[in-house]
Amino acid sequence: MQGPTLDVHTDFSGLGLTTNESPFIEQSRQRGELYIRQPYDLYTSANHRAWQQLYGRMIPQWERYANRHFLEGLATLCLPQDSVPHLEDVNRFLQPRTGFRAKAVSGYVPAFQFFDCLRNREFPTTITIRRGDHLEYLPEPDIFHDLAGHVPMHTDPHFAEALVRFGTCAHTAVEVAARIFDPEERAHALTSIIRALARMFWFTIEFGLMGTANELKVYGSGLLSSHGEIEHAVTSPDVQRFPFQLEWVINQSFEINRYQPLLFWIRSFDHLFELVGTLETWMKQGKLNHVAAGEPVVNERDLMSFLEPAK
Ligand SMILES: [Fe+2]
Repeated sequence: MQGPTLDVHTDFSGLGLTTNESPFIEQSRQRGELYIRQPYDLYTSANHRAWQQLYGRMIPQWERYANRHFLEGLATLCLPQDSVPHLEDVNRFLQPRTGFRAKAVSGYVPAFQFFDCLRNREFPTTITIRRGDHLEYLPEPDIFHDLAGHVPMHTDPHFAEALVRFGTCAHTAVEVAARIFDPEERAHALTSIIRALARMFWFTIEFGLMGTANELKVYGSGLLSSHGEIEHAVTSPDVQRFPFQLEWVINQSFEINRYQPLLFWIRSFDHLFELVGTLETWMKQGKLNHVAAGEPVVNERDLMSFLEPAK
């Protein structure tokens, strides 16, 4: 999708699309534009070099630790190794496989809108890239995390169905909340449901492992885009790895700014699809209305996105 055109008098040339340093993104946000175009000419040689470095050092890690569906997806997408990909090119390979497409965004997408995009087989995709001298840790997503970490998984039909089911869950959450008459009780229940949904997403889509206790591979995008953590997740004795247990996961806090000490593994993407279905059933039964407090904190913007999803 093409966003609004740039003001012809604004010259962004040479300033790049670097995380937290991009005037193009800043101005898009100021104009309230969430869905934007990818102004490809604005990427600097430093931006392309950062992609090249990030991609190059992940290749041996992926070959060792990534699940085969990811590796197949990577081959399908034909991502360039030496320059930031064009979203249009990625979508040309992706869309015929599962209907999914990467959709450029200017920044944070409120929770309901994010899940609603998944339901429509659109993946909100950051277009900025981290600085070349800050390759290791980034608290927010960038195009490497989104395109190289997430999007190859979207070529797998079974994974794609599970992702769409997450989107359906968000709509179910709105329906469940609408049936609670008391506004305070409704906000409390919805906050709890969003927290459960976020925890489920975190321990599967972002940090999931797949296989058996004896042989685990990575399918979570947070791990697939992290040079250090992908190996740590699979091999470190400091990580606890358990078969996926939904009762546990929906009540489990997590911290985003450290290597994850606790991970869960699933058997297959059909298994994941079933688990998201069970989550939805529990939601309808009111079982998610009081999950354990703790991270992630559900902010006002995310809560409002569910309370007033049309806005
Ligand atoms: Fe992510």
